[in-house]
Amino acid sequence: MLIRTHDASTPAASDITPREVWRNRRHLLAAAGGTALGVTLPALASTAAKASGTIMQGGDSKAQKLAATASKLSTPERATPYKVVTTYNNFYEFGTEKDDPVKHAHRLRTRPWSVRVEGEVAKPRSFDIEELLTLAPLEERIYRMRCVEGWSMVSPWIGYPLAELIRRVEPTSKARYAEFVTLADPKQMNGLAVPVISWPYMEALRLDEAMHPLTLFTVGLYGEVLPNQNGAPVRLVVPWKYGFKSAKSLVSIRFVEKQPNTSWMRSSPEEYGFYSNVNPEVSHPRWSQATERRLGEDGFMQRRRPTLMMNGYADQVGSLYAGMDLRRNF
Ligand code: MTE
Repeated sequence: MLIRTHDASTPAASDITPREVWRNRRHLLAAAGGTALGVTLPALASTAAKASGTIMQGGDSKAQKLAATASKLSTPERATPYKVVTTYNNFYEFGTEKDDPVKHAHRLRTRPWSVRVEGEVAKPRSFDIEELLTLAPLEERIYRMRCVEGWSMVSPWIGYPLAELIRRVEPTSKARYAEFVTLADPKQMNGLAVPVISWPYMEALRLDEAMHPLTLFTVGLYGEVLPNQNGAPVRLVVPWKYGFKSAKSLVSIRFVEKQPNTSWMRSSPEEYGFYSNVNPEVSHPRWSQATERRLGEDGFMQRRRPTLMMNGYADQVGSLYAGMDLRRNF
């Protein structure tokens, strides 16, 4: 993993979406009748913008809005401002600096798009993007996201459990792992010219991890379709694992019997293991993972906060790893 040792590109606090706008929107969601009432976010976003007298900076005014219900699996923590979530990115296909993806990902063409699902499944097939957007009811999941580099965010993703997609292809008894392959097109992706890792970017999960209700097949962010730099048109979000497991711009999912070698395992096996669960007790060989810096709450005096076991999701996912030595299976 490429690591930045200074924070020069962290957006300044003055540069970010006013928190009030987002907080008002959350209050309106609650006021509109609780947690999961099929409230449509775009409607609320504009109401919130009016109520606060501020233009909602949900992003591009031309971007397709997505209606989603608020999920009980969301963290009550305050979401990181839109500007930070969409300008401080890792997407090495567009360059290795944090602001490269927002500068270059406009070249990514997200239509036509399909995701091929194959391997150890009874019903292999391709899913067109329009079908993927409507395959299951969309939920807004506000998740903590912890990067292996030591920073974290809270992002309001939109999507549905990956399990919804998986059960439609009927994995066979040999399907023990799912491999996620992402787009690698040098015509659209300037970063592919540099062999940071072996392209395409490839990640994988054990089948039970992939089927876990927290694992989100993600199509949107902040009430809209995913911005390109955040992995348009479809990506994974696996909130209890380091961010690099959440592969962006997926083109295929393969079900296999043997544990796959992911891109990061190939490039640096002693640093990046298969599981990559957030674990404050297991240091990266070059730095501690005990604390993190929450982006968007910057300031010279900002204290690093303690990192939580499995990023705070241990109650939900801890049983997946019962009896395993988490130092060896890092
Ligand atoms: N997916 C692809 N295809 N290419 C990448 O470089 N970077 C990963 C992950 N998914 C990456 C990727 C890393 S290191 C992180 S921390 C997250 O995406 C960042 O997601 P975000 O930019 O939406 O916060």
